Amino acid sequence: MTPAVSILFVCLGNICRSPTAHGVFQQKVLTAGLARHIHIDSAGTAAYHLGKAPDSRTQWAAKQQGYDLSQLRARQVQAQDFLDFDYVLAMDKQNLRELVDLHRTVGERARCAPQLYLSVLDDALVEVPDPYYGGAEGFAEVLTLCEQASDAWLNIIREHKGL
Ligand code: 4NP
Repeated sequence: MTPAVSILFVCLGNICRSPTAHGVFQQKVLTAGLARHIHIDSAGTAAYHLGKAPDSRTQWAAKQQGYDLSQLRARQVQAQDFLDFDYVLAMDKQNLRELVDLHRTVGERARCAPQLYLSVLDDALVEVPDPYYGGAEGFAEVLTLCEQASDAWLNIIREHKGL
């Protein structure tokens, strides 16, 4: 059966923030019994880490809360993603700018326009802070934000798509 909805999480390198968003959302979708209905993926705007597993600090922070990200592999976002996904969600404003440029190349064939991932939270925070050059607390913060945003996105998708 073809999933009813598809969602793509995008950051810069696809080894810290978007794999966290991917793994957390995947777990919540599984728990909700919706795995057959929702296709989930993640990608980076940059090609620095193609084919790599998530950063070890990202995997560790996720594991503390029971999420296994070890099977994920980095890929770069491409124009085709706007033909394939119903939601394309950017972790920060720079990622969003890159996605807006890519979206423009697809024109009216696009299934969706890119949005900021944290736009669904009432929080003052609109970007998921890049943890790559910081300490462990940054990775824990990414995890917490992804848990909050995943709940919000799952509610929105269920409502929009009648799941
Ligand atoms: P991400 O974090 O975009 O959340 O995956 C980063 C990963 C790698 C780099 C920067 C941010 N880097 O410069 O290699």
